[in-house]
Amino acid sequence: MNASVFDLGHAGLADRIAARLGAARGMLDRRTFPDGEHYLRIGGDRAGHHAVVVADLALPDRHLTATLLLAATLRDLGAARITLVAPYLPYMRQDARFQPGEGVTSRYFARWIDAHFDALVTIEPHLHRYATLAELYSIPARALSAAPLLAAWIRAEAPDGFLIGPDAESRRWTEAVAELAGLPWTVLEKVRHGDRAVDVAVPALPALAGRRPVLVDDVISTGHTMADAARKLVAQGHRPPFAAAIHGLFVEDAERLLRDAGVARVVTCDTVPHASNGCQVDGLLAEALLALDRG
Ligand code: R5P
Repeated sequence: MNASVFDLGHAGLADRIAARLGAARGMLDRRTFPDGEHYLRIGGDRAGHHAVVVADLALPDRHLTATLLLAATLRDLGAARITLVAPYLPYMRQDARFQPGEGVTSRYFARWIDAHFDALVTIEPHLHRYATLAELYSIPARALSAAPLLAAWIRAEAPDGFLIGPDAESRRWTEAVAELAGLPWTVLEKVRHGDRAVDVAVPALPALAGRRPVLVDDVISTGHTMADAARKLVAQGHRPPFAAAIHGLFVEDAERLLRDAGVARVVTCDTVPHASNGCQVDGLLAEALLALDRG
């Protein structure tokens, strides 16, 4: 593909995508001024080229400004097309005005991306109240499924697994992964009392006896959801659970929390760089970029 692949916070993934596409790696000289403002300089002639920007937008405010500035610079230098690859798409949680006066930040965030990019490729965005990204984004936006990757990992590492979604929102991922893995599954109920306070109701699960519980969710953020479910499963005498998530943000002391709750293994996709990355998404992303290129 005749494109240059730039990266903001996800160099390994950008390297692998560029290799799969047979594309060049974009030359980006980037640093911050002493006051924290970004300095960007792009090498080579970008006029008329397709630029692919692979950005780690988990903990979004860390790379978001630089991502928008990079797109603006590429446009200014004459790039013909700029595609954003955001393996984890942030700001999807606030998909409604739950309280008077709140901002529907998923929409405002989408407007920024629409204004700077010509296309968006992402993996398993948190689509809950929106059915598709087209309800939010006016540029072509592709949401790819990582279910086959997690299913393959679970089939190999937990062939006797019993998949458990910790809350109603996790049903779509749990069901998809379980069906592909050919394993039984169920979904629990969760009440969220605050950002770091959840209560997952774990009923007696006779069908789980002797099998490996595998908790499945789209995101591990603080880890409280997975940890609460794991603790209760262990307390009921089940085997130490595995925790499988598409995106692992692991904010604050999430890893310790999961360990202390008795989680035996954690696996995530490399949408966000982390030691738990056991599923690689470069193949999925490269395929989607090639399909977009073909129109
Ligand atoms: C919520 O609906 C999501 O699917 C996850 O369950 C949630 O983001 C996990 O957050 P935490 O790890 O902070 O409990």
